[in-house]
Amino acid sequence: MALNLMLMGLPGAGKGTQAERIVDEYKIPHVSTGDIFRAAMKNGTPMGLEAKKYIDKGELVPDEVTNGIVKERLAKDDMNDGYMLDGFPRNMAQAQALDAFGKELNKPLNCVINIHVDPESLMERLTGRYICRNCGATYHKVFNPTKVEGTCDRCGEHEFFQREDDKPETVKNRLDVNIKMNTPLLAFYKEKGLLHEVNGNQDIDKVFSDIKEILDKI
Ligand code: AP5
Ligand code: MG
Repeated sequence: MALNLMLMGLPGAGKGTQAERIVDEYKIPHVSTGDIFRAAMKNGTPMGLEAKKYIDKGELVPDEVTNGIVKERLAKDDMNDGYMLDGFPRNMAQAQALDAFGKELNKPLNCVINIHVDPESLMERLTGRYICRNCGATYHKVFNPTKVEGTCDRCGEHEFFQREDDKPETVKNRLDVNIKMNTPLLAFYKEKGLLHEVNGNQDIDKVFSDIKEILDKI
């Protein structure tokens, strides 16, 4: 059976970090709505300019925009043999939309993993995060630095950046917005029997081995 996975977790829980490892191991495409918006903002497209209004404040981009993007992406052939959604759905309206178009495209979700992290540690994770400008690999000043200072472990390049929305003021609102949306979503996927919980307050390798244990059974 194809692995049609959704990674859930509050901002900074480690969705992107684990997604890098899952892609390497299971060879499924990684679709991060946050990454799609950041690419569109960088290219200055109309969708990117629209998304920027919300992202800069730590708010959610409107559902009409977000649902359309994911539906279009999911329809592509490279998603036929499994996929991994990261950061979508994030509210009930998105979950219901995905339910409908997932069935319509014959690619319904069959696994949801929630990476649970104590909210108190998320501010430190986000404000210490840095990302390789070339390949997008994610690091942390304290918890996950590059092996050689200033050189990306993954691609060997030397330029890094911090995300605009990782400023403490924005992080606070992102956390508030996402905490509010999270509870009903968790209940929704639990009810469907799709939800698996992983303890994200552990080191990155241990979190991955817990995820692998779940995925290997699917
Ligand atoms: P998005 O890009 O998805 O951001 P997010 O949900 O806020 O999550 P992050 O990417 O910040 O965190 P992550 O869980 O990927 O953590 P990471 O692995 O990097 O969305 C950005 C914005 O786009 C949203 O605010 C919204 O405006 C918009 N958007 C996106 N999707 C949307 C949707 N569906 N609907 C509407 N709007 C949407 O790790 C974080 C740091 O911690 C790193 O430095 C990492 O090295 C470190 N770390 C990771 N794991 C560990 C560990 N186990 N121990 C210690 N440190 C760790
Ligand atoms: Mg991410």
